[in-house]
Parts: sequence; structure tokens; C-alpha cells
Amino acid sequence: MLDPFRTASVAHAQGPHSAGTAAYDLIDPDAFSAARQEITTWAGYAPTPLVELEALAAQVSVARVSYKHEGPRFGLGSFKALGGAYAVLKVLHREVMKQEGPSVSMADVASGAYAHIAAKTMVISATDGNHGRSVSWGAQRFGMPCRIYIHAEVSEERAEAMRALGANVIRIDGDYDDSVALTRKEGEENGWFIVSDTSWPGYTETPSEVMAGYGVMTHEINEALEHAPTHVFLQGGVGGLAASVTAALKQHWGAECPRVVVVEPELAPCLLMSANAGKATVAEIEEETLMAGLSCGEPSKLAWSILAEEASDFLTIPESVVGPAVRLMARPFGGDQPLEAGESGIAGLAGFICAALQEDIRDKIGLTETSHVLLIGSEGVTDQSLFDRLMAAA
Ligand SMILES: Cc1ncc(COP(=O)(O)O)c(C=O)c1O
Repeated sequence: MLDPFRTASVAHAQGPHSAGTAAYDLIDPDAFSAARQEITTWAGYAPTPLVELEALAAQVSVARVSYKHEGPRFGLGSFKALGGAYAVLKVLHREVMKQEGPSVSMADVASGAYAHIAAKTMVISATDGNHGRSVSWGAQRFGMPCRIYIHAEVSEERAEAMRALGANVIRIDGDYDDSVALTRKEGEENGWFIVSDTSWPGYTETPSEVMAGYGVMTHEINEALEHAPTHVFLQGGVGGLAASVTAALKQHWGAECPRVVVVEPELAPCLLMSANAGKATVAEIEEETLMAGLSCGEPSKLAWSILAEEASDFLTIPESVVGPAVRLMARPFGGDQPLEAGESGIAGLAGFICAALQEDIRDKIGLTETSHVLLIGSEGVTDQSLFDRLMAAA
């Protein structure tokens, strides 16, 4: 069961470890706590499980593996439910305050008291699935019109999930980065509100609110653990997930913060390339990875500023380990709990198993028999037919 990970071709780069305080400044503790206060009041909120994978830990010779399973998050299937929907509410709150004065509370806006303003506040976003689902859900919840741009390869099942939440879904030619560029253009031309999970120069407020929303997940992890893990493996698309988790871990554990390892598909290695170049760097996507949520060629500048200081290691994994990792979660070793995980959700896990089993990477990353590894299972099954195909390929 572990052979595909033992033989997979894995690239490694050291983090640049630039000096600075980005983990405290770019999403500050107050921003994390404000997001938590709001999101935990939403109907359907419940912490997701932190699952101990004891048999897997024994198989790959580490002391402990803790896996945060985001499949059940708000019924939307991924951690992204926390970010986009919260940022939509923040946009609406600002718009209401602009029209009605600064004393309007977020709670009043969330309760629908300003429905007439909400109905005229168009939010738009680009997505490869999960972020758009969160934005659509937030817009529906707060009574706002919503347009979502998807690229050619996003599955129809994912598009349908957004339409079911009331979004006008527009499919474009090109890839994820093209859909981001079109969103920027249409937003600026029409005065619509862009709710993006990636940032660019001059556009950081909303992406940092998206990342503050993800902090609910990290807070739940911190609350559930008595001691800091030694390592965390975080999958990277534009880097927002990795940077948010890193900042929240650092703020909580300080000097005990786990060693941060970022994992990307080898077909979309923009963060590893940034680590090698010492600055945010664009990767050309020539072929789409199965890990759709991670198929990003351009890092979020905001996220990169945190990862450049805090991430120790960057890995890429090949497509060949995706199916084996999904199947390993569904049909695990020993008494480990079977979990249904999507193909982007298992990237950190797949990178970790490769690293643990390949001596040179294991040494570089400092994994030992006493390591406690934290993994973020960032999605459950968000594309059923792809999941079924991966399961059937065993
Ligand atoms: C399930 C899942 N995991 C991880 C990521 C990566 O997040 P980010 O693009 O913020 O790096 C995504 C992005 O869409 C995702 O959908």
C-alpha cells in the first residue's frame, strides 16, 4: 500500500526564512478572533474532527499523526466554507456602513436588516470549486447577487453545486489564473465586489479576511492539542490555507510552533519555485493536476509574505500518489478510522508519507520516531465522480 509513496519523485526546497513579523502583522490576532466570534455563531457551526491515525504513524515510523478532517464543514465539504462566506459578510458590512453610517453592527447586517442594500451588492469571484462554493453560500445567506468565474477544467459537478446556491456560474476558456484575471477586469469595470482568496498588489483586505476565517479551523486544532506538534504539512494552491494555518499556529505556540512543510502538485509548483527564487514567482501550468484546488500558477502575495518567513520546507508530489492517498484514507491501516477525502485534501498527507518513507527527504525535514505530525484534510468528497474513479482504480 505504501510503495507508490516510497518510489514517488518528490522535489524539496528549503524555505528562504526571511526575517520579520508577518505571521503576527498580516493577519493579526484580533482579525482571527473577530472572524471566530462571527463564524461560530452561524447555524450549523460545529468543530470538525481531529482524527488520530495511529496505525499510519506506526507504518511510517513517527510517534503520532493528527488529521483535521474538514469534510463535514458547514455541509460544504471543505475548510473554504470558513473564508469566502465570512469575507462576503465583511464586504456587505462595509457597504452598509458606507450608506448608513459607521455604527451599524455586523450582527444587524448578518441578520438581514439591510436586505435592500444586500440585494444591490454584487459579489464576484474566480474559483476551481471550493472557494466559489463558499462565496455563493455566503451571498445566498446574506441575500446578495453573485457571479462565479470557473475555468475550462472545473468539473460540471462543482459548477452545479454553486448554481444550487444561487450563483450565476460563468465558464471561461483558459485556466485558473485566467479566471482570476477576468474577475479582476469585470469587477473593476462594473464596480462589483471581488471576493478573492488570492491577493495582488493593492488588493489585500478581502483575501486577509478570507484567511482570518480559516483561523477557526486552526483554533479548533490548538484547543484540541495539549502540546505543539513537531511538524505540519500544508497543501498549497495560492498559499492562503498554508499561510493562515502557519500564522495561527505561530501566534498560539510561539517558539514551539511546528516546522511548516508546504506541499504542492509538481504540475503547479509556484510556492516551491518562489522558495527557490527567494521571491513570489509564477509557475506556468502546462497540464491540470488532479488536485484541482491546488492548480494555481501564481502565489497570493499576502500568503507568500508569511510563508517566506515561516515555512521551512517546500515539497512537490507527482500525480501518481493522489489515488493511493485517497484510497489509503478510505481503507486505512489497522484500526484507523476510514475517511472520505478529496484529491486536494490529501496532498499534505501524501507529501508527508513520501517524506517519511524516503530517507533523504526524511532527514532534510527532520522527521524521526518521536515526531508528531499535523495534517489538514482540507476537503471531503467535493467531486463524487472523480472520487469514485480514484477508488475504483485500486
Ligand atoms: C481542498 C483544498 N485544499 C487546499 C486548497 C489550497 O488553498 P490555497 O489556494 O489557499 O493555497 C484549496 C484551494 O482551493 C482547496 O480547495
